[in-house]
Amino acid sequence: MAKHRLLFICLGNICRSPMAEGMFRHVANEEGVGHLFKIDSAGMGDWHKGEAPDARAQGAALDRGVDISGQASRKVELEDFDDFDLVLAMDASNISDLLAIAPHEARHKIRRFLEYAPHMGVEDVPDPYYGGPEGFGHALDLIEAAARGLLADVLKESGHGAKKGA
Ligand code: 4NP
Repeated sequence: MAKHRLLFICLGNICRSPMAEGMFRHVANEEGVGHLFKIDSAGMGDWHKGEAPDARAQGAALDRGVDISGQASRKVELEDFDDFDLVLAMDASNISDLLAIAPHEARHKIRRFLEYAPHMGVEDVPDPYYGGPEGFGHALDLIEAAARGLLADVLKESGHGAKKGA
């Protein structure tokens, strides 16, 4: 069966989208459905190309049992709009930047990630890069909620049904 292919996007691909990639993989594995997904992340810029996630992002994720140390930053590419089914943006500026480069027929793949956590009452995952460590915890709260909502949504849409607790 074809995998569900999810690409998480932020600005630099060293804070929010690596945490989203790692957290989604974590919750999917927890639910026993990790094998159904191809998961990756990318940034709108290439300032940190090849770098591992920011040490603060790694630490905040590890506090929740999620190891993101093996990831490497990369910039989004045109082929990504072919290679993935959903392109999940961390904030509104990522969405407008993605819409500016996406082929017309792929525009529907671009989604605001926090659409999948409406109960959090927030539209954008705030960029924690220039702030203190607490910003990473807050971003992860939002990311974890949206990862769980997205997982439940994809499984429901694909006929796998809701898993325990979803
Ligand atoms: P991210 O945070 O988009 O969550 O990875 C940022 C990281 C680096 C930069 C901006 C945002 N930067 O300008 O280098």
